[in-house]
Amino acid sequence: MIKKMLQNKIDDETPITMVTAYDFPSSKVCESAGADLILVGDSVGMVMLGYSSTIKVTVDDMIHHGKAVRRGAPNTHTIVDMPFMSFNISVEDTLRDAKRMFQEIEPDALKIEGGQELVPTVTKLTQAGIPVVGHIGLTPQTVNVLGGYRVQGRSEAEAKQLIEDAKALEDAGAIAIVLECVPAPLATKLTEELAIPTIGIGAGNQCDGQVLVYHDLLQYGVSRLPKFVQAYANLDEVAVEAVSQYVLDVKEKNFPTDDHAYKMNDDVLKGLYG
Ligand code: KIV
Ligand code: NA
Repeated sequence: MIKKMLQNKIDDETPITMVTAYDFPSSKVCESAGADLILVGDSVGMVMLGYSSTIKVTVDDMIHHGKAVRRGAPNTHTIVDMPFMSFNISVEDTLRDAKRMFQEIEPDALKIEGGQELVPTVTKLTQAGIPVVGHIGLTPQTVNVLGGYRVQGRSEAEAKQLIEDAKALEDAGAIAIVLECVPAPLATKLTEELAIPTIGIGAGNQCDGQVLVYHDLLQYGVSRLPKFVQAYANLDEVAVEAVSQYVLDVKEKNFPTDDHAYKMNDDVLKGLYG
């Protein structure tokens, strides 16, 4: 039960660790590494599919990737993002998409971006038996309205709005809230005021948990790392070096060697060719 796991972490005052994953190998890595939570983020559109934002990601995309993640990490609590416009046309449409995603992927919860305006949606999903994680601050699906990927909640008006949004989501039944690109002091305050856990990304180190994008933390296929990321490896470097060596070895006939080749009985070809 995801709710119980989160409550235990809060009770023990142990930070919650979350990493995104999008396919079988990345989720296997996250499970082996002992992450508490895997997020199948709609960031899949950017880091896996090469889109310039998350806006083109569909429910079918999320189901395709979500199922692969579950196969790679059957024993890790998994949250899946509802993509752009799949949860804000009407509550009925939301329930229909959420039903498909919940039945086909079998995650522990779904995540939706937005504040107060989602109260009816969060209430309905929760009543229907689908745990919901909120996501406020920088919400990439509305980047075109926000005016860019920038920190949210610095002004009094923005901070007030985020506080109201967070409380409204908690009251509606959200089991946790992701805080993205929120000044650390505001994220600290929100964490103190909410009973449910906050999971930060670019939100300081006082949240109840942290999340990073898999490809950012491994520096794998991303051209630019945001300020809030720490890269723990450089897979790009490792991968380019390895593939370059392979290309060179083939050109110079150093690969494959006899060790990689299949043998056969000489008589067979002698019989055919003399
Ligand atoms: O899609 C994603 O990767 C996310 C995290 C950044 C929280 O929503
Ligand atoms: Na997302």
